[in-house]
Amino acid sequence: MNALLLVLALVAVIGAHAFVSRATRSATTRSALQMNTTPLVAGGKRFEAKPGSSMLAATKKLGLKVPLACKKGDCGTCTVTCGGKKIRACVGKVPDAPKLKSLQEKGLVVTVDNA
Ligand code: FES
Repeated sequence: MNALLLVLALVAVIGAHAFVSRATRSATTRSALQMNTTPLVAGGKRFEAKPGSSMLAATKKLGLKVPLACKKGDCGTCTVTCGGKKIRACVGKVPDAPKLKSLQEKGLVVTVDNA
């Protein structure tokens, strides 16, 4: 009888632990999805940009001065590097948020190529 009670108690404890872990994991995933922003950093500044929004506007929020010429995406004067990818800021969009947690924490580094 005591052994049966011990087993039942053990099952209850393990079940509660599994429930808490699942609930915590779900809350973490939910908060990451709800944020739905791409962290951008430049010169010590950080800006949470909406993926798909204007890259030029995001660079302005970061305090970067991007040189412009054609403003049509033809000349490449406004090219910036964002997280290692070249983007023409005048027509480019903010990329999706990085999947790696370390990159989400550090942010994608944005630099102006033709500064
Ligand atoms: S200003 Fe020419 S490509 Fe952006």
